[in-house]
Amino acid sequence: MESNRTSLACLILMMILGVWSENDAPSDKRYAILDNDWLAVGFLPFLLAMKGDMEVLGLVSNTGNTWQKQCGLHALANLEVANLTCIPVYQGATWPLINTPERFQAWETVHGRLPFQGAFGPLNLTAEQTGKNPTSGDPNRVVKEAFVEGFPNTSFNDATSAANFMVEMVHRHPFQVSIFSAGALTNVALAVRIDPSFASLAKELVIMGGYVDVDMFRALGDYGQANINSDINFKMDPEAAKIAINADFPDIIIAGNVANQVQATQEYLDEVYQVKNPLTRLFHDHYGTRFPFWDETAAGVMVDPSIALNTSTVYADVDISYGSASYGDILVYNPELRPAGIRKVTYVNQIDGAKLKEMMKQAMWEPPTC
Ligand SMILES: *[C@@H]1O[C@H](CO)[C@@H](O)[C@H](O)[C@H]1NC(C)=O
Ligand SMILES: *[C@@H]1O[C@H](CO)[C@@H](O)[C@H](O)[C@H]1NC(C)=O
Ligand SMILES: *[C@@H]1O[C@H](CO)[C@@H](O)[C@H](O)[C@H]1NC(C)=O
Ligand SMILES: *[C@@H]1O[C@H](CO)[C@@H](O)[C@H](O)[C@H]1NC(C)=O
Repeated sequence: MESNRTSLACLILMMILGVWSENDAPSDKRYAILDNDWLAVGFLPFLLAMKGDMEVLGLVSNTGNTWQKQCGLHALANLEVANLTCIPVYQGATWPLINTPERFQAWETVHGRLPFQGAFGPLNLTAEQTGKNPTSGDPNRVVKEAFVEGFPNTSFNDATSAANFMVEMVHRHPFQVSIFSAGALTNVALAVRIDPSFASLAKELVIMGGYVDVDMFRALGDYGQANINSDINFKMDPEAAKIAINADFPDIIIAGNVANQVQATQEYLDEVYQVKNPLTRLFHDHYGTRFPFWDETAAGVMVDPSIALNTSTVYADVDISYGSASYGDILVYNPELRPAGIRKVTYVNQIDGAKLKEMMKQAMWEPPTC
């Protein structure tokens, strides 16, 4: 009792004297919710966030690379490998707002195929038996063969849906929660529609996806070039992408073209594996060298905005016309000529790639703990 009174008096004194340092002020704390189409080696976004002093409130799964449930199970497995099972995983929407595999494949027949179709790829049970994540067919089936990181021994948090969880969190920590979305934007769109104050109460929306002016790379490059310049995240759920990037988040940061800047190389995988732990092993053995560090780039920019060396502020929208060849592509506009009802986003053009790679390496070498 006595000591309580003393500490209260101390606190009041500190406040009067203004000794309450900036860093202790609760409003400086940064939180993150990471919404992704998680795969076998997907731990870097949450490691980077935690190493950057952000509290990760939870992971959320969406349908993108594969169906939501399979992605959510990869999220659980990745947390388990990292000994971070204190972080909950909430299941997001399994179906995009409108799109379906059949509808998407019909669009491809008319407008041309995407090199990678994620969950909307054709059903191939033979491929699944050899370790491919499920595509088309029953969206709730689980393909254990695809879990090179180990099948999870933990479970989803079923207390609420992903969209509700995000809404609750921005109310609990107004203007402090970064929403990271590196897959389809279905859950973000649902949260925007559930609660009109959701977007404005968040700190920011950080997106991986949204390539601008890459037609020539797709046309003249090889299959791999076409692949990394195709925008499955927006095209999986174009209507959700439009709702999300038209919403009144204080800032929307888009890592589109820049996500192709830093390529995974064998040299870097080997460098990381100089320190041996379950994370560096998984990264070394299974990240591969085919792809750039897409989600890691978006996470890096969220954690440390100073790695973005060149950004543009631009009016942006998403094409939601199913009959259009650019259905699901980002559109950018001159301020004077823009259509009504759209907003500006921060489009990242260039990052400090060496710094990103250093951040990633340190996050794997000395991983954060619960
Ligand atoms: C779950 O436990 C089994 C048995 O110990 C193990 O083989 C597997 O790797 C674990 N899963 C993960 C993701 O660590
Ligand atoms: C997780 O904990 C186990 C058991 O203590 C340990 O062997 C493993 O190295 C830890 N993983 C990481 C990524 O630190
Ligand atoms: C299904 O996947 C297998 C194994 O990856 C592949 O050999 C085969 O060509 C695929 N079938 C179709 C119809 O694409
Ligand atoms: C920043 O990026 C834009 C778009 O790629 C480019 O036009 C501009 O020259 C760049 N600015 C600098 C200072 O490099």
